[in-house]
Amino acid sequence: MKNSIKAVEITSFGGPENMQLVDKPVPVPGPGQVRVRLAAIGVNLIDTYHRTGLYPLNLPSGLGVEGAGEVEAVGAGVDLPLGTRVALTLALGAYAEAIVLPATALIPLPVSIGFEQAAAVLLKGMTVDYLFNDTFPLKGGETVLFHAAAGGVGLIACQWARHMNVNLIGTASTDKKCALAESHGAKKCVLSGAQNLAETLKPLAPDGGFPVVYDSVGKDTYHLGLEVLAPLGTFASFGNASGAIEAVSPQDLAANGSLNFTRPTLATYMGIPGWMQQSSAKVLQLVEDGVLSVEINQRYGLEEVQRVHEDLEARATTGCSIITP
Ligand SMILES: NC(=O)c1ccc[n+]([C@@H]2O[C@H](COP(=O)([O-])OP(=O)(O)OC[C@H]3O[C@@H](n4cnc5c(N)ncnc54)[C@H](OP(=O)(O)O)[C@@H]3O)[C@@H](O)[C@H]2O)c1
Repeated sequence: MKNSIKAVEITSFGGPENMQLVDKPVPVPGPGQVRVRLAAIGVNLIDTYHRTGLYPLNLPSGLGVEGAGEVEAVGAGVDLPLGTRVALTLALGAYAEAIVLPATALIPLPVSIGFEQAAAVLLKGMTVDYLFNDTFPLKGGETVLFHAAAGGVGLIACQWARHMNVNLIGTASTDKKCALAESHGAKKCVLSGAQNLAETLKPLAPDGGFPVVYDSVGKDTYHLGLEVLAPLGTFASFGNASGAIEAVSPQDLAANGSLNFTRPTLATYMGIPGWMQQSSAKVLQLVEDGVLSVEINQRYGLEEVQRVHEDLEARATTGCSIITP
C-alpha cells in the first residue's frame, strides 16, 4: 500500500482554482475511528459554500462531505471487519482517496447498493426525507412548490413526491431540465426565468396558494415564495444556490398571510440520536424498492475537481454528480 493519499485541500476561501490536489500521509485511525478507502465521492452544492467561505471552515481544510467505500483500517475498540462496505455523509474531507472518521458515523451498505449510488443518494435523500416528513410533513394529496427540481436533491424530491401522491410543482432554468423533472414525477415544472413567475405559478397552486414552498435557491426566490404561499403557509428555506437570503422580515411574513419561515439543515437532524441510521435506511430501502432511481448524470476524476465546481455553479448539471478517486 502507498504511504500517501491524494486529497483536495483549500488554504483560503475563493473560486474553484483554490482547490488543490495534494499528497497527504495515509491517515491513521485513532481509538473508535476507522479509515475508509473511498470508491466514490458524492458532490453537493454545500461543497461550494465551504469553498467560498459562505459556510466557514478552519483553514487549511479538506473539502467534500460524502462518499462510499470499504473499511481499510480500524482503531482501538472498533470491532468491524476490514472490507465492510460503508457510506459516510457530512464527513468533511471526503474529496480524497481515503478518510478517517468515527465508526459511529458509518452507514452500512447492503450489497444491492453500489458505491456510486450510495455516494450520490444519501445526503440528498436524507434531506428530502426531513423536508417531506418533518419540516412540513406531507400526508399525500398536497400541491407543493419545489425549486431547482432537476438538480440532485430536486430529482429525488420529484420521485419521492410521486411516491407519496404529492403534486410537486417544480422550477428549473431550462426546458430540458423541466422535462427531466417531469419525467421523474414532478406534476409540472416551469421555467424559473419566466416573466412574472408568480403569475405562472399561481394557477398551478390550490386556491389561495401553496401550503409549502421548499426553497434551496435563496436570494433570488425569497420574495416569490412569499407571494405564492397560502395564508399560514410554510417557507422552508434550505439552501443558497443564488446567494443567501439577506434578511427575513417578520412584517413580510405577517403581510403575506401569517406565514411560517424555517431554515432547516441536515446537520441538525444528524445530531438527533438514531436519526441518521433510521433516515439512511429509509432512503436505501426506497432505492432498493425502485422508488428512487439515482440519476448520476456527471462523472469526474478527483483531478478534475475544479471543473466539478465550475459545472455545478454554472447550473450545467442535472441530477447527481460523482467523483471517482
Ligand atoms: N439544508 C440542507 O440540509 C441541505 C442539504 C442538501 C442540499 N441543500 C441545498 O439543496 C440545494 C440542492 O443541492 P444539490 O447539491 O442537489 O445541488 P443541485 O440542485 O444539483 O444544483 C443546484 C441547482 O440550483 C439551481 N440554481 C438556481 N439559481 C442558481 C444560481 N444562481 N447558481 C447556481 N445554481 C442555481 C440550479 O438549477 P436550475 O438551473 O434549474 O435553476 C442548479 O442546478 C442546494 O441549494 C443545497 O445547498 C440543503
